[in-house]
Amino acid sequence: MIQETRAMLEFADDPKQIELATYRKNGGYDAFEKALKEMSPDDVTQEVLKSGLRGRGGAGFPTGRKWQFVPKGNDKPKYIAVNADESEPGTCKDRVIMEQDPHQMLEGTLLAAYAVGATTAYIYIRGEFQKSIRIVEDAIDEARAANLIGKNILGTDFSCDIWVHPGAGAYICGEETALLTSLEGNRGYPRIKPPFPAVEGLWRCPTVVNNVETMACVTQILRRGGDWFAGLGCEGSTGTRLFCLSGHLKRPGVYELECSTDFTLRDVIEQIGGGTLSGAPIQGVMPGGSSFPVLRADELDCGFDIESVAKAGSSLGSGAIMVFDDTVNVRDVVLNISEFYSHESCGQCTPCREGSDWVRRMLKKFQTDGPDEGDIATLMDVTDKMDGTTICALAVAIVWPVQSFLKKYPEAFAEKVTA
Ligand SMILES: Cc1cc2nc3c(=O)[nH]c(=O)nc-3n(C[C@H](O)[C@H](O)[C@H](O)COP(=O)(O)O)c2cc1C
Repeated sequence: MIQETRAMLEFADDPKQIELATYRKNGGYDAFEKALKEMSPDDVTQEVLKSGLRGRGGAGFPTGRKWQFVPKGNDKPKYIAVNADESEPGTCKDRVIMEQDPHQMLEGTLLAAYAVGATTAYIYIRGEFQKSIRIVEDAIDEARAANLIGKNILGTDFSCDIWVHPGAGAYICGEETALLTSLEGNRGYPRIKPPFPAVEGLWRCPTVVNNVETMACVTQILRRGGDWFAGLGCEGSTGTRLFCLSGHLKRPGVYELECSTDFTLRDVIEQIGGGTLSGAPIQGVMPGGSSFPVLRADELDCGFDIESVAKAGSSLGSGAIMVFDDTVNVRDVVLNISEFYSHESCGQCTPCREGSDWVRRMLKKFQTDGPDEGDIATLMDVTDKMDGTTICALAVAIVWPVQSFLKKYPEAFAEKVTA
């Protein structure tokens, strides 16, 4: 039986864990204190590199390597931006860390700041997460009062302040460069990369953008060691990850799991999620949030790790595993997805602005009337032209799921609706 491996969530069920005294009693900030007093900034980066940690925001970029891109020896200020925008449909894990163990994220943020020489960090929290904002702000206040945040932290010459910045409800602001534009006080438009934020980010200064869970992993790595983290999970997917199981499951929820090639995505859905609530057969699974291709029920026997799910044609993305059974009309699912992304397109790039709404209208027609001859081919052609022609990846967050639904459930889109 697959079991949870609780490291990040070890103390999350204790309501007092949000308080500094309890966090410290449970070993909190010891790793940060040790790093400040006994390790060089480069030692911290080396430990993270050793761990094999890959970012938990969706793209899976190696965290230590990202930190190494921050230029050394220039006199520009450096920043950390923690991505707490968590707006991907199905993803609900960063909120658990912020609301149940906020200091774990703050400790990771301070460790990242120490490693790259940043003196200011911003936590960009989705505006709808009022409870998270309140809890994180209280945690920052407590840590600042204990001189864990601020000037000359714990008597050392390292100083770093942390500020919360609430978002205003735009999904696009989770994209790292849009997040930075928004933090600067402008409309949240993504920027062309390169330059990447680690080289030129906030106010054109080097900025590390990392997800909330990534920061929590950094705390675990410095607390228990890079080797410990590298020994969990499997090659290319080390450590533990928070997975958000949702949809037609008996036991939906946020679970901390190790990835593995010894069991499958289907095993996780059955053993952790309990299978479908109704007992009806699974029709499809979106294993990494709604931005990635759907997998049919017969494609779930792939290993439960980043590479295996990629080989199966999708992605573990942000860890949001959404399951739907055969009572669902896939025309409704794909329309729902396109409605979300066309609404959230920021409008900066023509293929995304025009294309996403055109796709939505076409899928709306499919839902009510079904496709006319040639419609599917045109839809594939239009979505092909949206792929890779925009500044950020929001357009492909429509293209990939829509194309995958059309290809994998051709029978659902084959006929005109007569009823
Ligand atoms: C449209 C769009 C929305 C995104 N939303 C989020 C988000 O809500 N949270 C997040 O951490 N990353 C999000 N990302 C990924 C970020 O751009 C970035 O890769 C991530 O914050 C880097 O952190 P990591 O390396 O720790 O994963 C989004 C990307 C795109 C293209």
